[in-house]
Amino acid sequence: MQNRFVPHMLHGCDYNPDQWLDRPDILAEDIAYMKEAGVNCVSLGIFAWAALEPAEGTYDFGWLGNIIENLHQNGILTILATPSGARPAWMAKRYPEVLRVGPDLVRNEMGDRHNHCYTSPVYREKIYAISRKLSETFGGHPGVILWHLSNEYGGECFCPLCQEEFCRWLEKRYKTLDALNDAWWTRFWSHTYTGWEQVDPPLTRGEHCVQGLKIDWMRFVTDRTVDFMAWEKKAVRDGGSDLPVTANFMGFYDGLNYNKFAPFLDIVSWDSYPRWHDGEQSDADIAAHTAASHDLMRSILPDKPFLLMESTPSCTNWMPVSKVKRPGMHMLSSLQAVAHGSDSVQYFQWRKGRGGSEKFHGAVVSHDRRSDTRVFKDVAAVGKRLAGLEALAGSVQRPQAAVIYDRENDWAIKYTAGPRNQGLHYQETVIRHHRALWQLGIGCDMPDMEGDLSRYKLIAVPMLYMQRAGIAEKLRRFVEGGGVLVGTCFSGLVDESDLCFLSDAPHGLTDVFGLRAEEFGGLYDDERNHILWRDRCHAIIEIIELVRLEGTSALAVFENDFYRGEPALCEHRFGKGKAYYIAGGAQQPLLSELYATLADDLGLERALDAGQDGLPEGVTAQVRYKDGQAFIIAQNYNQAPARVALRTPVRDFETGEEVSLLTLAPYGVRVLTH
Ligand code: GLA
Ligand code: ZN
Repeated sequence: MQNRFVPHMLHGCDYNPDQWLDRPDILAEDIAYMKEAGVNCVSLGIFAWAALEPAEGTYDFGWLGNIIENLHQNGILTILATPSGARPAWMAKRYPEVLRVGPDLVRNEMGDRHNHCYTSPVYREKIYAISRKLSETFGGHPGVILWHLSNEYGGECFCPLCQEEFCRWLEKRYKTLDALNDAWWTRFWSHTYTGWEQVDPPLTRGEHCVQGLKIDWMRFVTDRTVDFMAWEKKAVRDGGSDLPVTANFMGFYDGLNYNKFAPFLDIVSWDSYPRWHDGEQSDADIAAHTAASHDLMRSILPDKPFLLMESTPSCTNWMPVSKVKRPGMHMLSSLQAVAHGSDSVQYFQWRKGRGGSEKFHGAVVSHDRRSDTRVFKDVAAVGKRLAGLEALAGSVQRPQAAVIYDRENDWAIKYTAGPRNQGLHYQETVIRHHRALWQLGIGCDMPDMEGDLSRYKLIAVPMLYMQRAGIAEKLRRFVEGGGVLVGTCFSGLVDESDLCFLSDAPHGLTDVFGLRAEEFGGLYDDERNHILWRDRCHAIIEIIELVRLEGTSALAVFENDFYRGEPALCEHRFGKGKAYYIAGGAQQPLLSELYATLADDLGLERALDAGQDGLPEGVTAQVRYKDGQAFIIAQNYNQAPARVALRTPVRDFETGEEVSLLTLAPYGVRVLTH
């Protein structure tokens, strides 16, 4: 594999010169400004299909060749896209089958982007032809380092071709209709299918009561999309290029199971758009969410750096309210990605277009064409700093803890009618567990149930509602062998078809937790139960269980209502390890206290040794390792300065200064080492 850029710290952006081909002055200015901003890499051609194939079968790659060569001459690398994210108008008009059909069975018209059918043979033929040609033409260019397959894969298509594929997919999965009917429990409401062609996807006015069907549809959508991506990759390979490939993902976006893409990807990349300064949450809240997203994306291909493929240098234009970044936040949020394992800081977008829906989306260069703006200077500062952090490229995290987030479980929880149809908030729950570790400066992976769990000392499995991939057995072995497990209510209830286990819950784990969960019920939004633990009162939200102890003891009980005195937080020794169970919706303070205790018990490695006091709220750190060296990235998400007294001093990697009292400016970030 010609892995030309790893290890290398990339700094750059989505670059759309195809919007400016009649403006050589702008194109020249781009190069000059890129050098000024310390840009060493751009993503090219993501939405350039119409410019690359202006008429069917007529390719115009000349302009792209000139751009790539010119960038190369100026020391700027190219990540080259396959252009399937948006199709040319001529194609949509001549072959309407390339356009997507909605769940209302209405076909979209030409418009927008990401508006194509992943099954359409015409679309596949066209994308194959152009991608192969791009590969033949540019795959060997010394400036091109990576393939950017399509853009933000996502969405569904309900066209007849996709429906037919869905039926075939089901036949392959279930072999017989009996098996399908059993898995989906179709005798309920007389839904029994007697022919494959009777099965519709979840259409707007169709089936929404068969959860198994809805989950399978999402699995199918994932497989179709993976199949499409593999097809684009094949085109690139058939064109002769063996450069690595990536696809830019979207964090907690739940329309696809990203882990299924892993076998086809060399590098994971993703687009991060945190809602900094959104007025409702603190920046620390948003940072915690973003940290979890980085960890989730990194965990698709663990043990490897990922790439931050897009972020905004200032604001977006698509949030209900789009705020610009306050001073310091651009550097901080950029290095946050690096802290979690990114070998790049890339932006959408280099330059604002004059028209189109993204003309007011943040960009390095605005309509004023100046390089002395606040945003440009912030970007240039990141470029300069990254150049000094080249040594971090290729370094990796080595987390000893994992919080499991499983996309199929997420779908299952969302689709199921149960204790709280106004939201069980699985993602938010997972993020709260993750945040407890993040705040302690402890690195954390976020694998799904298929992940290799043997490497961890601590595993959290919040709301393990669905069990699949032998997870109960894996967790049992993990605890037996000395691991510490944290489980919660609403766990071990259904199998991978969403069929309830006919057993005590959590299925297959009652002896591990030393209890069985007998009943669960919802709490209204403003309703609380409480538990008193170590003299502190903690609110329980959204869901509450009645559990029966079977060999374990309760560390704390519920305080209110008829739940008073019932077990709320339990600890159980099993084999050489321990399992904890929280029988209700826990908020941050309870989780933070629990994980701090467990981290100490287990001696989990913390990025900074801050002693008893720990890190102040909103201050955290992550570590990356390379060749025996640790790179610690300390971050302050507060608008006030922070000070941390360190028991074990460190050295500032950038200045060489010895640090025993760590000071961080408002929104400050420092890179440290031992
Ligand atoms: C996504 C897309 C980009 C751009 C940005 C705007 O990440 O991939 O093309 O639209 O959003 O935030
Ligand atoms: Zn389709």
